[in-house]
Amino acid sequence: MFSWFKSQKTLPLVQEASYLEDFTDPANIYKYFTKLTGIHFDQKESITTPKLIRFARGHGCISFCALLDKLQVDSSVREALINLLTVNETYFFREKEQLDFLLHHCKRASKSLRILCAPGSTGEEPYSIAIVLAEGGFALSSLEIVSIDINTEAISRASEGIYTTRALHRLPQLLKERYFVMEGNQYRVRDFIKQAVAFRSCNIFEEEFLRLGSFDILFSRNMLIYFDQTTVEKAVHQLAQLARTNESLFFFGHADLLITPERLQDHFDHGIKYYTLKQ
Ligand SMILES: C[S@@+](CC[C@H](N)C(=O)[O-])C[C@H]1O[C@@H](n2cnc3c(N)ncnc32)[C@H](O)[C@@H]1O
Repeated sequence: MFSWFKSQKTLPLVQEASYLEDFTDPANIYKYFTKLTGIHFDQKESITTPKLIRFARGHGCISFCALLDKLQVDSSVREALINLLTVNETYFFREKEQLDFLLHHCKRASKSLRILCAPGSTGEEPYSIAIVLAEGGFALSSLEIVSIDINTEAISRASEGIYTTRALHRLPQLLKERYFVMEGNQYRVRDFIKQAVAFRSCNIFEEEFLRLGSFDILFSRNMLIYFDQTTVEKAVHQLAQLARTNESLFFFGHADLLITPERLQDHFDHGIKYYTLKQ
């Protein structure tokens, strides 16, 4: 009798909530997210919008307006949305030719080096840099690699340094054995490689990014592809502020730059394209 009474009382409330739901226009959420991260969705909105609706419902919002209000005041909801919508695809030895070129360059450098990976996602890129340099006989104690990413879950996974076979598919068996310890069917990065990399969650458009210090080598691979041209220039401007000298080198992913950004001068050497600050 009591349970019948209870269900009679709650049912209309549930019906009312779904009746009031309004997930018709996500435009303001996309605008907000792009302003925050630089990422544009364009044709991918049809795939992303259902995710957004589930996310809004999961955070107790009955409309995109309510979600926008929440995002503006609650940093944990902002962080969760960034973690949901950023694409963290990466793997060891991606665009390896750039890393071989880096080794060649580092061997000629007499001083200790600071290297930035912005973004480093789940760690495969900064660890690959450490592995290539160690393998080439470069003393890891004379370099510091800083890897940042806006996605806090990616940064936690990077700090753990545990990977599946898929992430290591480009590595020869010998290097897997030399630089990883097997744990079940996963690979853990050895401590001496781990110690060469510092991970930080950070948005390249925020003030904290400019406090990372200055760098001799700056990698920014496969992030600018998600930005429009104006945002690419803004991102490059941020990166340029972290160059230690006019000789600092910048490396981008092969599809990142359609045109050379205003702040940079392009160079081509041994088949590798890299950039320095424009003099
Ligand atoms: C496809 S991954 C590229 C990772 C690696 N550099 C590579 O080339 O394999 C792109 C990364 O950019 C990060 N990202 C996107 N916008 C960012 C921003 N505004 N600040 C910092 N990281 C950002 C994402 O979280 C994601 O992990």
